[in-house]
Amino acid sequence: MARRKKIYEGKAKTLYEGPEPGTIVQYFKDDATAFNAEKKDVIEGKGVLNNLLSEYFMKGLGQIGVPTHFLKRLNMREQLVRSCEIIPLEVIVRNYAAGSMSKRLGIDEGTQLPRPIVEYCYKDDALGDPLVTEEHIAAFGWASQQDMDDILSLALRVNDFMSGVMLAVGIRLVDFKIEIGRVYDGDFQRLVVADEISPDSCRLWDIETGEKLDKDVFRRDLGSLTDAYSEVARRLGVMPNNPPAPSKPTLVN
Ligand code: TMP
Repeated sequence: MARRKKIYEGKAKTLYEGPEPGTIVQYFKDDATAFNAEKKDVIEGKGVLNNLLSEYFMKGLGQIGVPTHFLKRLNMREQLVRSCEIIPLEVIVRNYAAGSMSKRLGIDEGTQLPRPIVEYCYKDDALGDPLVTEEHIAAFGWASQQDMDDILSLALRVNDFMSGVMLAVGIRLVDFKIEIGRVYDGDFQRLVVADEISPDSCRLWDIETGEKLDKDVFRRDLGSLTDAYSEVARRLGVMPNNPPAPSKPTLVN
């Protein structure tokens, strides 16, 4: 096979030039990192699970009219996506207090928030992705006011979609992070959900037991990360060797 041109290597994914202009191949690695890569491990199978799960969420978003960069899955570890210019922000939506918000504000983990709260962090590993306000974003020109309006509405739509999908399989969407990209169609630009949506970038708790089914299992040494992600994939019917059964009409008594 011809060698592909590597465009970028991140902590969990490698990006290669795609087969056509304007496309990129996203390769999902098994590497897991936390605390700005202070903690590292290789978790066999994580890349495959995140590739399938991210495909599932991005396709679902597309079906309800939320634009994403996703084009198609190529194989168990790779997907083809539209090339876009990533806005240097991590957009976090929180439904329940957890993680850094609990620490920062002294709110017990698991406390339901009065409404979804959207936060922005400036994407810069050297600075540890600091929390920023819309004032910083506007003043430093990372995104325009129109972009910010669109980003907020995308983030809340992703939150409603993901919360519903998870609720249907007995999982609470505590919080998540997305990244937003700009794609250009001629002179016009539009914003799309980019990067990935997976248990690496969400907090997912079993509704009944509170069991953590996300990257906190790795961050906090709570057990097997593969088991946790497999459980999410199994409930959603996207386990690699367990395709969802074909649906047929059933009689309801
Ligand atoms: P936090 O509570 O640590 O700020 O994390 C909020 C959400 O963002 C949580 O779902 C995990 C996700 N996240 C990432 O996807 N990447 C990161 O680098 C961090 C710090 C959090």
